[in-house]
Amino acid sequence: MTSGYHSFLGLAFMSLCYIQLVSSTSDVYIVYLGLKDVQDPILTSDYHLDLLSGVFQRKEDATRSMVYSYKHSFSGFSAKINSTQAATLAGMEQVISVFKSRTLRLHTTRSWDFMGLNLNPTADNSNPLQLTHGDNTIVGLFDTGIWPESKSFHEEPNMHPIPRTWKGKCVSGQNFNPKTACNLKLVGARYYLKGYELEHGPLNASETSEYRSPRDANGHGTHTASTAVGSTVKTASFFGFGQGMARGGAPRAWLAVYKVCWGDGRCSEADILAAFDEAINDGVNLISASFGLPPPLLPFYYSSNDIGSFHAMEKGISVIFSAGNSGPNPSLVQNVAPWSTCVGASSIDRNFPTRIVLDNCLSFLGESFNTKHIDANLVGARRYFRGGICNMDMWRNRSAVGAVILCFSTQGPVAIEDAEVAAWIANAAGLIFVDSPTRQYVDVDIIPTIRIDMIQGSKLYSYLSQSITNHTKVRIFPSKTVIKQSPAPVVADFSSRGPSAISPDILKPDISAPGISILAAWPPGISPTRTDVDQRSTEWNFQSGTSMSCPHVSGVVALLKSAHPDWSPAAIKSALMTTAYNKDKNYDTILSGGTNEESSPFDIGAGHLNPLKAMDPGLVYDMNADDYILFLCNNGYTKDQIKRIVSLHPGTNVNCPQEHTTNANLNYPSITVSNLQSTMTIKRTVRNVSYKKTSIYFASIVSPHGVEVTVWPRILFFSYFSDESSYYVTLKPQKLSQGRYDYGEIVWSDGFHTVRSPVVVCVNTATDLAFAIDESSQPLDQSVAGA
Ligand SMILES: *[C@@H]1O[C@H](CO)[C@@H](O)[C@H](O)[C@H]1NC(C)=O
Ligand SMILES: *[C@@H]1O[C@H](CO)[C@@H](O)[C@H](O)[C@H]1NC(C)=O
Ligand SMILES: *[C@@H]1O[C@H](CO)[C@@H](O)[C@H](O)[C@H]1NC(C)=O
Ligand SMILES: *[C@@H]1O[C@H](CO)[C@@H](O)[C@H](O)[C@H]1NC(C)=O
Ligand SMILES: *[C@@H]1O[C@H](CO)[C@@H](O)[C@H](O)[C@H]1NC(C)=O
Repeated sequence: MTSGYHSFLGLAFMSLCYIQLVSSTSDVYIVYLGLKDVQDPILTSDYHLDLLSGVFQRKEDATRSMVYSYKHSFSGFSAKINSTQAATLAGMEQVISVFKSRTLRLHTTRSWDFMGLNLNPTADNSNPLQLTHGDNTIVGLFDTGIWPESKSFHEEPNMHPIPRTWKGKCVSGQNFNPKTACNLKLVGARYYLKGYELEHGPLNASETSEYRSPRDANGHGTHTASTAVGSTVKTASFFGFGQGMARGGAPRAWLAVYKVCWGDGRCSEADILAAFDEAINDGVNLISASFGLPPPLLPFYYSSNDIGSFHAMEKGISVIFSAGNSGPNPSLVQNVAPWSTCVGASSIDRNFPTRIVLDNCLSFLGESFNTKHIDANLVGARRYFRGGICNMDMWRNRSAVGAVILCFSTQGPVAIEDAEVAAWIANAAGLIFVDSPTRQYVDVDIIPTIRIDMIQGSKLYSYLSQSITNHTKVRIFPSKTVIKQSPAPVVADFSSRGPSAISPDILKPDISAPGISILAAWPPGISPTRTDVDQRSTEWNFQSGTSMSCPHVSGVVALLKSAHPDWSPAAIKSALMTTAYNKDKNYDTILSGGTNEESSPFDIGAGHLNPLKAMDPGLVYDMNADDYILFLCNNGYTKDQIKRIVSLHPGTNVNCPQEHTTNANLNYPSITVSNLQSTMTIKRTVRNVSYKKTSIYFASIVSPHGVEVTVWPRILFFSYFSDESSYYVTLKPQKLSQGRYDYGEIVWSDGFHTVRSPVVVCVNTATDLAFAIDESSQPLDQSVAGA
């Protein structure tokens, strides 16, 4: 049925032999032991201490070095130890993996880190789902905490009482009083700091505006929480922009906040794993987390996000991650485990056009959140910056008071944030920033900044060059909010693209959702650009990033959980994916920002989130322990390890196939074969979840270029007696290729439901050439090696 996949052996061995480099200093390491085998948390903790004591002379030292004991939902601990001790622990039979706790990053696009400043924006209410409001669902949000006073976290009318089964807590801390902060909306708030402080030093809560409590000192967590579950607020806007009603995807869902990231946007893996351990035990129904690290990706059992989300999934808890902001180049997608959902970002149909008029005649259109009329001299960057390069290093120390500076991204090249800071230092009245249109999206700025494209920018530039004085009068008008713009959606250029670097047979990202210029709640004590130079205060702010798209999906997952409490995380993901659309509002294929070409599944996954359709998908691709066992085998786990990780039902067989096989056979809602060498058949199983009494589904197929796809059977029947059916997909390469991805789809339809799976195939029939070169030990040509 499946072809052997020698190329996966390399990956498997690599993960088995993964070793931390030797260092004599102590670091925070995570020691992962698999599923909790002891029912009693106290006994489990004692057991962890015993294990750790094995690498210390005295038990007191072991106690002192222990950071967290993970003992509720899975078993493991983190400790401050040196590499020798880590290696000793890794050699113990009961230990599955030992890895150094890394620092993950929030997935927002803008970075002011070079100035010691950092940013994050707001969310939006683009999912007006009427069917349910997320009742009876608890959303666990792993982020920078919460600003509980925001109207987004007031109780909605008719909120249900908190369920008795809820074990979460609202803990007190600096500027955080559980009695006033928590209510029927915000039902839990915890924070995790030990790992962060051991890795980055004490928090310095007094000198910075950080809080040793669940209170948000960054804005990111408040923003993502209000996007996912924010209560209805009648009027919201950012200084008049994006005015309208604000609400999260699931306004009546309960919110439980787990603060694992801090004001600087950094999050320690030791803390993240502690949050997973407690959140799963507390009883959340889903977890939303907008952080990660770009490749190199480590094997799944060396990553807190992947370990935590695995155990969450086993308890029926959906975990939704952001894909990262490393686009548009391929293969930089993050959070790629098949048991979690990975979300890319796209635009919505809203623009903020801003008119620029030169000398009372020539008119240009850009985008900004500009609130004022600006009358000034427009001056080229050369006057202020050497080489016309708009950054601080190139500043000629000339004051730009009364001037709007024209800057090009291509000179330098410079990022818009750099240009803004440089123009601000020069005291400019404003900035016109010219960039490729595919890279531009409007954002909140520290000085009035209007983004224009290269064509208009070039016209401005030549007009300016012809002026004898090197400047000209410019008038900039306040920006407007315009909706129903097209094309929309467009995939954000920054959204991380597939294929997954560690499991290319699982399509990632899974889905895309709005993540550009999203308006959502903001702590009024934090300026909208999160810089000291910005004196503004706002309760709503715009933010962009896959950080913002992730909670859109989380909100919809809360609605799905509320409507279908019995659906597994895999079934919910399937509903999201098979109903997603890949055509924009004009029925054209959704464009991919960054290239302005038609998007592929590596840009948007199965497509763009379609909340109403996801409520009633007709069929779902579910997954169970067997599916994950095959996946874990393929990823280098041994039979014994798998037994200790997967909660097995009696009768489940843990049998890894002799050879590593393709993960294309996982019952995933998308089909990816990253190395098709010869004809291959894979199997999928779908289950009826529609309310119709009988249904007949017909397959329609679009074959990827150069691959013949056949589906058998072509008709699936569901009745009271059989709610599950399998079908087989045969992929037959019809071309000679050394590795080029082509895209098609399989769609099942009963005339009412449309169940669509993207089919992604990389034909690799010309591998003989690669072996020939390999054997003659010549250096591999990049195009062959990369195939
Ligand atoms: C690591 O710590 C142990 C126990 O404190 C010590 O015996 C050992 O020498 C240390 N190893 C290194 C490389 O520093
Ligand atoms: C706190 O301040 C100390 C000394 O100023 C510094 O070394 C440390 O890195 C700071 N901690 C954080 C988390 O910023
Ligand atoms: C600009 O001024 C700073 C001090 O304000 C000085 O250190 C720097 O050398 C000056 N740069 C130029 C290009 O004059
Ligand atoms: C205009 O700019 C050019 C080059 O940037 C410079 O050589 C020239 O002196 C400037 N003219 C005036 C009037 O400033
Ligand atoms: C499909 O499943 C639903 C419940 O999930 C059931 O109500 C319906 O009758 C089933 N339809 C068929 C054709 O079996």
